[in-house]
Amino acid sequence: MRQIVLKAPSAAANIYIGSDVLAARLPRLTSGQTNFVLTDSNVFALYPDFFKIYFDGVEIFVLQAGEEYKTFSSLQAILERMATAGLLRTSRLFAVGGGVIGDIGGLAAALYMRGISCVQIPTTLLSQVDSSVGGKTAVDLCGVKNIVGAFYQPCEVLIDPTFLKTLPVREVKCGIGEIVKYAALSATIFKRLYENLNVLTDLDFLTDLIYDCVAHKARVVEIDEKETGERKSLNVGHTTGHAVELSHNLSHGESVLYGMLLETKMAIAAGVCEKAYGEKLLKIIRGALALAPLSEPDFSGIDKDAEKAKSDKKNVGDGAIKMAVAKAENEWTLYSLPFDKYKAALMKAAQDM
Ligand code: NAD
Ligand code: GLY
Repeated sequence: MRQIVLKAPSAAANIYIGSDVLAARLPRLTSGQTNFVLTDSNVFALYPDFFKIYFDGVEIFVLQAGEEYKTFSSLQAILERMATAGLLRTSRLFAVGGGVIGDIGGLAAALYMRGISCVQIPTTLLSQVDSSVGGKTAVDLCGVKNIVGAFYQPCEVLIDPTFLKTLPVREVKCGIGEIVKYAALSATIFKRLYENLNVLTDLDFLTDLIYDCVAHKARVVEIDEKETGERKSLNVGHTTGHAVELSHNLSHGESVLYGMLLETKMAIAAGVCEKAYGEKLLKIIRGALALAPLSEPDFSGIDKDAEKAKSDKKNVGDGAIKMAVAKAENEWTLYSLPFDKYKAALMKAAQDM
């Protein structure tokens, strides 16, 4: 078992990674207070023994699986159940599932009695390399991703890669979407992906990468928990990714890959991203998109999707769209374009994918 202590300014989070983390940490974490579990219908069906062993007799809220349930009304139902279960401020919430469960569970923990203890147990690759770490919690509203939420650190994150054995390949690809984002920020991760494009879905290969991605994220969150500067780097590909995600029925990871593809092309064309480096990054992105290929989304109406980028949380109200893009090895920048120019560049980038 490997450990990373994320010393965020608001609170510290202990992150444990390894196939022995559940047995090592859960008996201790579940004793001494009332507990509450949030999970989704797929995870609950796949892992009956896990819930029986660690959460026998505990109140378990099983949310229907899927991004479409990451809503205010789900959040309200969860909070109502927490209240009727008689949870106290000393109680602890365990979020067991992918990023949807982690985000909505973290927000429920942040809100209930103004904050109760939260443990994240991520079960998808995406949630293990990214969303369970760093304390961002949220629900979607009015068709806009993550527009309502809070920064709220879990006390522990237990990352057991064994969960990944049941993950469908399309979900593995989603996690790789966020790993490619780390590749755009870290030369070490970049090199490992570039040299292993033929084994991207190999679970041993991915398990090795989880620690590196989480360690990178922990370093960033420690210096900029509330995303006023450096943490914006963790949004590479996300401005355009979020703009196309819901309207094209893409998963979050897939939309990040398409967002990175489009934004990298825009940055190369504008001379913001070094050409040779950018071309290699595009090769990694295309390699990831080729896994479990979908029919290519129809981006002919991408000018309409562009409007959604106006709601991006990096924007500051000056009419410009802000994108975190890779510039060169280990270098990123916040690339800002007036909306009309953003829309035109996006349409051009989408013409030949
Ligand atoms: P998800 O939670 O919807 O999980 C994807 C699918 O995998 C679901 O159908 C789920 O039921 C299933 N699943 C979960 N664990 C499984 C397992 N072990 N075996 C088989 N199936 C399993 O989606 P996700 O990709 O994990 O996360 C995406 C969400 O995370 C988005 O809402 C995104 O906005 C959010 N996110 C948040 C952050 C953050 O910093 N908070 C970062 C990135 C993404
Ligand atoms: N997923 C981006 C962040 O946590 O900041």
